[in-house]
Amino acid sequence: MPPSYWLLRHSVVMCLLLHSLVLMTLCFHHAATSCSKRCYCSESEGPSGGKTTRCSNLRLTEIPQDIPNDTRRLYLDYNLLTSIPTSAFQDLPLLAELDLSHNELALLEPGAFRGLAASLLFLDLSYNQLATLDLDAFEGVRAHSNLTGNPWHCNCRLQTALLRLHLDSASLAGIVCQTAEPEDSGAKGVPFLLVNDLCMVLKKTTDVAMLVTMFGWFTMVISYLVYYVRHNQEDARRHLEYLKSLPSRQGKSEESSTISTVV
Ligand SMILES: *[C@@H]1O[C@H](CO)[C@@H](O)[C@H](O)[C@H]1NC(C)=O
Ligand SMILES: *[C@@H]1O[C@H](CO)[C@@H](O)[C@H](O)[C@H]1NC(C)=O
Repeated sequence: MPPSYWLLRHSVVMCLLLHSLVLMTLCFHHAATSCSKRCYCSESEGPSGGKTTRCSNLRLTEIPQDIPNDTRRLYLDYNLLTSIPTSAFQDLPLLAELDLSHNELALLEPGAFRGLAASLLFLDLSYNQLATLDLDAFEGVRAHSNLTGNPWHCNCRLQTALLRLHLDSASLAGIVCQTAEPEDSGAKGVPFLLVNDLCMVLKKTTDVAMLVTMFGWFTMVISYLVYYVRHNQEDARRHLEYLKSLPSRQGKSEESSTISTVV
C-alpha cells in the first residue's frame, strides 16, 4: 500500500469522524438552548435582555413542556388554557414576565406559580375566566399583576386573599366585581378597591345570627331551669308532706300507747 493512499484513507476517516463529532455537538447545543417546537424565541442584549419565548395565539390547551429554561419573558396569550397546573413554571428560574392574558383560565391550581417567587416581576392574567384568587396558587409571588377583564366574584374570601397577596393598587384597580356576596353590598360593577369591607358586612350578619342563636339557647336553658325547679318543688312538697305525715302518725301511735299505759 502506498503511504499517500494510506494517509488519504485515514484523513478521510478522520474527517468523517470529526464531522460527525461537530454535528453531534451542534445537535446537543441546539437541544440545550433551542426553542420550543411550536413557539418562537428571540434573544435580546442588555440588562433587561435574555430570552423571550412567544407561544401566542397557537390554540394551546396545555403549556408546552419544552420551553427553554433560560426564558425571561414568556408569552402564552391568546390560547385556550383553562387551568394552570401545579409547578407549571418550576423549571424556568429566570422567568420575570409571564403573559397568560386572553385565555380561558378559571382555575389556578395550588402551587401553580411555584418557584417563581424570586424572579417573577410581571404577571398578566387579564381577560380570563377567573372569579376568585387562591392564595395557594401564588406561594409568595408578588408580581405586578394585570387582573382586568375577569368575572370576579367579590366576597370576603377574595378580600382576604387580596389582602394577603399584597398587590399594588394598579393591580387591584383591575378587579371589577361582576358578582358579589352579599348581593346587596353594592359591589357589583365596582372596582374591588372601592368596595366597602365585605368581611365586615358578613361579620355583622354572622354576629346577628350568633346573637339570635345565643338568645335561643339562653331561652331554652332558662325554661329548662324553670321546669326543673317547678318539678322539684312539687317533688319536694310531696316529700315534705310525706315527712310531715310520718311523725304525726308516729305521734298518734305514741299517744295511743301512752293512753293505753295510762289506762
Ligand atoms: C438549563 O438546563 C441546562 C441543562 O439541564 C443546565 O445546564 C442550565 O444550567 C439550565 N439553565 C438555567 C438557567 O437553569
Ligand atoms: C392590563 O391589560 C390590558 C389589556 O390586556 C391593558 O389594556 C391594561 O393597560 C393593562 N393594565 C396594566 C395595569 O398593565
